[in-house]
Amino acid sequence: MKINRICCIGAGYVGGPTMSVIAQKNPEIRVDVVDLNEQRIADWNDQDLTKLPIYEPGLDGVVAEARGRNLFFSTEVDDAIEKADMIFISVNTPTKTYGTGKGMAADLKYVELCARQIARVAKDDKIVVEKSTLPVRTAEAIKSILDNTGNGVNFQILSNPEFLAEGTAIDDLLSPDRVLIGGEQSEEGQAAINALASVYGAWVPEDRILTTNLWSSELSKLTANAYLAQRVSSINALSELCEATGADVDEVAKAIGMDSRIGPKFLKASVGFGGSCFQKDILNLVYISKSLGLDAVADYWEQVIIMNNHQRARFAKKIITTLYNTVSGKKITFLGWAFKKDTNDSRESAAIYVADMLMDERAEIAVYDPKVSSRQMLEDLNYLNTRSESENEELMDTHNEPYGATDGAHAVAILTEWDEFKDLDWERIYKGMQKPAFVFDGRNIMDSQRMRDIGFIFQGIGKPSE
Ligand code: NAD
Ligand code: UDX
Repeated sequence: MKINRICCIGAGYVGGPTMSVIAQKNPEIRVDVVDLNEQRIADWNDQDLTKLPIYEPGLDGVVAEARGRNLFFSTEVDDAIEKADMIFISVNTPTKTYGTGKGMAADLKYVELCARQIARVAKDDKIVVEKSTLPVRTAEAIKSILDNTGNGVNFQILSNPEFLAEGTAIDDLLSPDRVLIGGEQSEEGQAAINALASVYGAWVPEDRILTTNLWSSELSKLTANAYLAQRVSSINALSELCEATGADVDEVAKAIGMDSRIGPKFLKASVGFGGSCFQKDILNLVYISKSLGLDAVADYWEQVIIMNNHQRARFAKKIITTLYNTVSGKKITFLGWAFKKDTNDSRESAAIYVADMLMDERAEIAVYDPKVSSRQMLEDLNYLNTRSESENEELMDTHNEPYGATDGAHAVAILTEWDEFKDLDWERIYKGMQKPAFVFDGRNIMDSQRMRDIGFIFQGIGKPSE
C-alpha cells in the first residue's frame, strides 16, 4: 500500500515538527497539517520564520524546505481528512479537570471528536494513526467509533507514539532511537504497519523501526515517560540527602552513571521536572492501575509525582528560610520560565509553582526568559487560580533582558538551564543587587566557586553550602 497523502490533526508541539520532518524526507507525499486554532495555523504559515508558533532549534530550516512544496498548514480539517490515505491524530490529551478521574485520567474528548469527524467525513478506506499519547486500549474505543458511525469504509488503527523531547525535537526526529508502530496482527493490520514503516523508512534505518501489537505500543509510551521521570525524581530525592550530608549530587550522579547498567543520562538534579508529558502520563498510569485494582502499582508510580512536588516546594522554602524567613516585599528574580532550555513551552514548568509559593509570601517576582512571552507567564499563574489576575499582575514583573530584571533584587533564582545564563556578566549583576546577594541555582549550571568569589551567597541543588 503506497501512501500519497497524509493528514495530521493537531498542529502543536508534536504534530508540527513531526509532520515537517516527514514532509521533508518524503517529498512525493503531500502532508496537510490541520488545526482548529486559526492563529496557530496563521503562525505556521508566516513568511517570517521567527514567528513559527513553536521554537525548536532547526525547525525553521525544515519548514522553509518543505512548506508550500508538499507541506501545508490549514484549518480545512474536513477536506484534508477526506483526501488523505493516512490520518494522524496528534491532538492534546490533557489531564481531566472534571468528572470521574478528575486530576488523573487523560481527557480523551479531543481524540474522540477527531474519530467522530473522521467517521463522518471519510468516503474511502483510511489508516488512522494514534500519535497522541493515549491510555492503553484507546485504539479499541477509536475503532468502535469508526466502525459504528462510519460510511461503510474500512479503517485500520495504528499506534505510533512520539518520543521526541522538546528543545531537541528535530534531532530526535531525524535520528530517533526507535520508531514504534503497533497494529493489529491481521493481514490488513500488517499491511497498514508496513505502509507507515515505509514513510519512516525514507530516513530511519530498518532496524530502528519496531513493530508490536497495539496494546504494547500504547503502554510503552506511558512506560517510557514514567521511567524517565522516575530517574529525575530519584536523583532529586538524593539531592536532598546530599545537602544534608555534604555529598555533591553531580559527583554521585557521575559515579553511578558510569555503571553501564545505570547509564549517565537523565541524572541531572533540578528544581523538578516540568513539561506537558511527565506528570500527565504518570497520573494516567496511576489511574489505569487503580482502575484495575492494582493499588501497589499505582502507589509506586504516584511517588514519582509526590517527590517532584516536594522538590519544587523545597526549593521555594529554601529561598524563604535563607532570606531570613521573610520574602515579603523583596524582589526575587527568576532567570528562566520555560520547563527546560531551548523551548518556548512553559507547561507544568517548575517556575510557575515556585513563583506561586513565593507570591503567597508576598514576594515580588521579576522574570527574564529568552523565549517565553510575558503574556504566557501571566496566563500560567492565572491558570492556578491562587489569587486574582490583578494580584498576579501586581506581584509579577516581566523583563526582556536580564540586567533590568536583576537590578535591585535580593535574590536570583535560576529556574531554566538556558546556556546564555552561564555567560551573563555576573559581576554586573552582583553590583546591581541588594546585599547580601543570594543566588539559588535550581539547575546547577553555575560554577559555585566563581559565584562565591564574586561575592554571592550561592546555593545549588544537592550541593554543599560552602
Ligand atoms: P498541543 O496542545 O501543542 O497541540 C495540540 C493541537 O491540537 C492544538 O493546537 C489544538 O488546537 C489541536 N486540536 C485539538 N482538538 C482538535 C480537533 N478536534 N481538530 C483539530 N485540531 C485540534 O499538544 P502537543 O504537545 O503537540 O501534544 C499532542 C499529543 O502528543 C499529546 O497526547 C501529548 O501527550 C503527546 N506528546 C507530546 C510531546 C511533547 O513533547 N509535547 C511528546 C510526545 C508526545
Ligand atoms: C519527555 C520525554 O523525554 C520524551 O521522550 C517524550 O516524548 C515527551 O516527554 P520533554 O518533556 O520534552 O520530553 O523533555 P525532557 O528532556 O524529557 O525533560 C522533562 C523535564 O525533566 C524537564 O523539566 C527537564 O528539565 C527535567 N529533567 C530532565 C531534569 O530535571 N533532569 C534530567 O536529568 C532530565
